[in-house]
Amino acid sequence: MKHYKILVVDDEPANLQKLKRAFVEEYHVLSACSGEEALKILRAEPVDAIITDQKMPGMSGVELLEKSIGLNAEIIRIVLTGYTEVEDLIEAINTGRVYKYITKPWEPMNLRITLRKALEQLELTRENRRLSAELEKVNEKLRRENELLKSQVEAYFEPDNIIYKSRAMREILSLLSRVVQTDSTVLVQGETGTGKELVARYIHQKSRRANEIFIPVNCGAIAKELAESEFFGHVKGAFTGATAGKKGFFEMADRGTLFLDEIGEAPQDLQVKLLRVFEDSLIQPVGSQKPREVDVRIVASTNRNLREETEKGNFRQDLFYRINVFSIYIPPLRARKEDVRPLAEYFMRRMASQLNKKSLQLSPETIFIFENYHWPGNVRELENEVERMVILADGGLLMPDLISDPVRAGRNKARKSDSLKEQIGELEKRMILDTLNTCYQNKSQAARALGISRQTLITKLRKIQTIIASGNDSGQ
Ligand SMILES: Nc1ncnc2c1ncn2[C@@H]1O[C@H](COP(=O)(O)OP(=O)(O)OP(=O)(O)O)[C@@H](O)[C@H]1O
Ligand SMILES: [Mg+2]
Repeated sequence: MKHYKILVVDDEPANLQKLKRAFVEEYHVLSACSGEEALKILRAEPVDAIITDQKMPGMSGVELLEKSIGLNAEIIRIVLTGYTEVEDLIEAINTGRVYKYITKPWEPMNLRITLRKALEQLELTRENRRLSAELEKVNEKLRRENELLKSQVEAYFEPDNIIYKSRAMREILSLLSRVVQTDSTVLVQGETGTGKELVARYIHQKSRRANEIFIPVNCGAIAKELAESEFFGHVKGAFTGATAGKKGFFEMADRGTLFLDEIGEAPQDLQVKLLRVFEDSLIQPVGSQKPREVDVRIVASTNRNLREETEKGNFRQDLFYRINVFSIYIPPLRARKEDVRPLAEYFMRRMASQLNKKSLQLSPETIFIFENYHWPGNVRELENEVERMVILADGGLLMPDLISDPVRAGRNKARKSDSLKEQIGELEKRMILDTLNTCYQNKSQAARALGISRQTLITKLRKIQTIIASGNDSGQ
């Protein structure tokens, strides 16, 4: 307690001595024999508490305390007063200018307890202030971090940066322009890394919900047992450990967009419950009797062929029909070669500006290799490849020697070891499968696009399927 400074004030030397004696063991004590002297001390150094006699020649105790407020509003103000003078102090006490009055004759013990309580309170006030300042700082930091992350995510997925040149992508965007303003569910299909999430964010940002939240949820990454509470929330006490209620993804996304990523991976139980929400827009938190209405736009994605999964019984047919209202298929990158170059250039520029490397360019050989590689990881793989090359590059042209082995080898493999017949077979297989994908698996349409009859297509497909099934697929 020695770090607290106490100022005692009394005009009578004997009383002053008694006051000093009462506190000197516990605190750092300063003394003054008049109000004026006390103010001088207060101006010179910080003091935690004043204990003053009321009746003094010149300045009274209460007057001193009132003046002290101007110097330090927080100071503890205690006045010692004769029993008959209490009336005069009532107003000062009521307006908070005096913390406490003690009537004379006072007991050292009482006075010590009073002061200790007041100091404890003062300490709490200071501690609270410190904590709120710290909290404010932490909040400020979190807010800044949050903004930074948001801007990074936005920059990363800046939907205006959907880069394309191919007809396939142009058609997708024109198709999207018709659906973005509605609340229709959109199903985005495509291989891994083709840009399904990018398209989902594009839909959200072009919709009337753009100012609301976009919540991406990976349906395959949520433990089966937790799925219901994660999606629909729970009320307090719904199960052991549910010490507080919690909102689920649907409620969090209210008025915004919920992106159900990898919906093909959703466990069966969840599929049933999702279907129910899609049907009536009502959710029921775990442990609650009352359904709640939500206004959520759904965009779902899958890299599996959902129709096929449905036929195999892995995905509920009724749910499939619900989400297959407006379906978009993003072709793999190898099926839209025209996009390779603009994408590579875009990723190169973005990375170069991040690393402050100027005037980089893709060499024609590099572009050739890129355009002829089959990109199993699609745009994401191209993005990683280009970023890696930019990191390694010293400047100038990005030559093929910077290309990673798998990408270079992927292209060379077919050239060196395979016979012409095998290569033609491989090319035919690719063209057929890609065209089928682009035509949403519609065989007549695909056959027309390939310039062969439907029957020929079916025969060829059967052959391809036998090769794939027997494990002789040399494709990937
Ligand atoms: N047309 C495009 N223009 C610019 N960037 C693209 C384009 N398509 C994809 N990308 C980028 O490629 C990366 C992969 O895209 P995204 O995550 O949207 O793919 P995805 O289909 O959701 O993949 P997965 O199935 O693996 O989740 C992202 O960094 C994305 O910004
Ligand atoms: Mg994704």
